[in-house]
Amino acid sequence: LERFVVTTTVLDLAAGTSVLGSEDIPGCHPATCRIGLLGLGNVGSAFARLAREASSSLASRGFTPVVATALVRSVTRERSAQLSAQITDDHETFFAEPVDVIVEALGGVEPAYTLVRRALDRGIPVVTANKSLIAAHGDELARLARRRGTALRYEAACIAGVPFLGTFERRSLVARASGVTAILNGTSNYILTTMTRGGSFEAALADAQRLGYAEPDPSMDVSGADAAEKLTILIRLFGRLLVDPAAIPLDGLASVEADDIAAAAAFDGAIRPVSRAAWDGTAIRAHVGPAFLTGTHALARVAGVTNGVVIDAERGAQCYIGPGAGPDVTAATLLDDVSEIVTERRVRTPPSDAVSAATAVTRPDSAWFLRLTGTARPSDIADLLGSYGIWCTRLERRGDRVYALTCHAGQARIHTALDAVQAATGAAAAAFPALAEEAQS
Ligand code: NAP
Ligand code: HSE
Repeated sequence: LERFVVTTTVLDLAAGTSVLGSEDIPGCHPATCRIGLLGLGNVGSAFARLAREASSSLASRGFTPVVATALVRSVTRERSAQLSAQITDDHETFFAEPVDVIVEALGGVEPAYTLVRRALDRGIPVVTANKSLIAAHGDELARLARRRGTALRYEAACIAGVPFLGTFERRSLVARASGVTAILNGTSNYILTTMTRGGSFEAALADAQRLGYAEPDPSMDVSGADAAEKLTILIRLFGRLLVDPAAIPLDGLASVEADDIAAAAAFDGAIRPVSRAAWDGTAIRAHVGPAFLTGTHALARVAGVTNGVVIDAERGAQCYIGPGAGPDVTAATLLDDVSEIVTERRVRTPPSDAVSAATAVTRPDSAWFLRLTGTARPSDIADLLGSYGIWCTRLERRGDRVYALTCHAGQARIHTALDAVQAATGAAAAAFPALAEEAQS
């Protein structure tokens, strides 16, 4: 029956009406690309503004983007975006307007899922920045897009300012990898970087919200949940494995104290919000949380709102670094996705590589960066840890704390050892994974 599906796409993408350089041909005018915009918040407003500002430069690519209709929660809210578009809170009114592409910047799984599915089902291409949606339903929506011969793009959903997902989707041999290590949340990295410079956690988070980096619910950023969603998108792309973000072990930023950051610097490293996963068959080892990176690690100097990913690709590691969040970079990536869809001669559908469900998600082993608060002697702490087979490669007292870097150990063993240290000396402990450039999970 799918052969008889009629799509409602207005712009004839497949016929290649939007020919590159069409402005050079006398009498040839750029086609208007009518956009339905879901959401007019930080990202949606920036997108509407950019679509207007970039209109003349995109004309040289053969089209002019025009936001024709926008869906919001509250139509009475004052908007900074100058829009001649219809603004509605009603789904039927939104869908009654004929559009060529839908751009989704609502956030959350619902109603985004229902609306995106409806659009794809009608054959309308969709571009989204929503990692919650893609983490929860990306595979199903990609299959729906393929069945309907239309496009689903989500380059802005993971490291918003670095366009790498689409490249790897098109190149399945290069995308063969055994794992990824990444900084995937701009807000968290901005907060830790600000704390490195003496700022407070609270002030840094407030700044990140003011600058439009943070999620509508910022606990998604600081708990690691936003990064876990992005990590599942990377696991699907590079490991061909489906995993529920809720299955990924998380540690939030709350455990990091300003002294830890200073101690990490004294140990020639840095504390960063790290997401990592490695897979073997259908078993995944994954974790999201603050981690100590040695100074030589490719991500150790990735600071502020910048994000980065190191892909352990079969044919050699690859590293991508760039802006991770912010309305303007996100809007640019969304509009580039729209531009690609409009200027393609054939609708590019995602590859049909088989994916499997992950059967187990466990926490990877690692070396550890330890903080022990109290008056215990460093040599006593080292002896106690050693009795559990945990050897310190570096140990130093700093004020009322002892900091240590250890050998590789599983989380259970490190916690058993730290409990024993606490029982014997009263030293309260915190443990962060410690990763070196060549660390293997
Ligand atoms: P936001 O400022 O909270 O904006 C959300 C928009 O969606 C608002 O216009 C809101 O309407 C509308 N909306 C929310 N729920 C709705 C509902 N049930 N029905 C109709 N409209 C609804 O969020 P944002 O910061 O722009 O983020 C949007 C998306 O972009 C999220 O998925 C986020 O993860 C993603 N993203 C953000 C960044 C970034 O740097 N901020 C980067 C990459 C991706 P009202 O205006 O009426 O409230
Ligand atoms: N809140 C997210 C972040 C936005 O800070 O990374 C980009 O996905």
